[in-house]
Amino acid sequence: MASTPENDDFYLDERGLASYFECSWLSKFRELGNATPLTSASGKIPEDFIDSPFFAKVAGFVFDNTKEFFPAPQNMLEIGPALGRTCHQTLQNFPSITSVTVVEPSKRLLNGFRRLLVEGQITSFPYIHSLREFKSLEVDTRRIADEYRHVDFTLINEPMQSNTITGQFDLVYCLNVIDQVTTPIEIVSAAKACTKRNGILVLACSYQWSKKYLERPQDMVGDINEYFDTSWEQLGETNFEYKFRFNERFSQLFCVHVVLYRKSAL
Ligand SMILES: C[S@@+](CC[C@H](N)C(=O)[O-])C[C@H]1O[C@@H](n2cnc3c(N)ncnc32)[C@H](O)[C@@H]1O
Repeated sequence: MASTPENDDFYLDERGLASYFECSWLSKFRELGNATPLTSASGKIPEDFIDSPFFAKVAGFVFDNTKEFFPAPQNMLEIGPALGRTCHQTLQNFPSITSVTVVEPSKRLLNGFRRLLVEGQITSFPYIHSLREFKSLEVDTRRIADEYRHVDFTLINEPMQSNTITGQFDLVYCLNVIDQVTTPIEIVSAAKACTKRNGILVLACSYQWSKKYLERPQDMVGDINEYFDTSWEQLGETNFEYKFRFNERFSQLFCVHVVLYRKSAL
């Protein structure tokens, strides 16, 4: 899902930002009344081709599988949140959450997260116009950020390591990150350590393991359930589609394996 990294951001360039913006946030701005059409070098593109329902589906899956015993989580951590659409959907589902910590090493993505969820403003994000050209869409993020005035956000612009976070959280997400990093085991262990007893950890992976990232090929697993021992109770697992557009009529469609675990109280 990553675009070609450039010097100014280890993870993605403006085109990558465009892909993340349109797959994760375009539908929300349409819902909020922004009707400015996207231009395209190849005729009008149906927006359901661009939108990825992944984020709302994951947040809904977590809510459906936890609401009976997890009525009022207070805080959450997301590792590698990109532009924060899953975080937004989760805050909608769990209004009791008043503290959100994110660990996002990409400056471009974290800056976008801040503009969308923390500092409401009139701003613009790029979108894909053609293979070689992106354009920008002006959006008003104030209605989104205003909803979260009661939320205390901590934004950490670093890669997740075992010592990045010292606290523990009711809900921890790590979605589509571990196959994009040098040390997946360290990230999973850190995510587990950051989950409170009785708390929830949501891990997702499309198994696009790449030697470009991985330090130790033996760290690749074929099933992320292998990371959990009996001190974790599996509450659900599923697969969701994740779409990511590269040019106006070409998207990559990933099949993402999502698992949901509760940490034992003992
Ligand atoms: C494929 S994207 C997934 C983004 C988002 N979670 C989603 O599902 O759309 C991978 C994310 O992991 C982040 N990332 C890469 N290396 C990381 C690391 N060492 N620690 C934390 N996040 C990392 C990237 O910046 C990016 O936001």
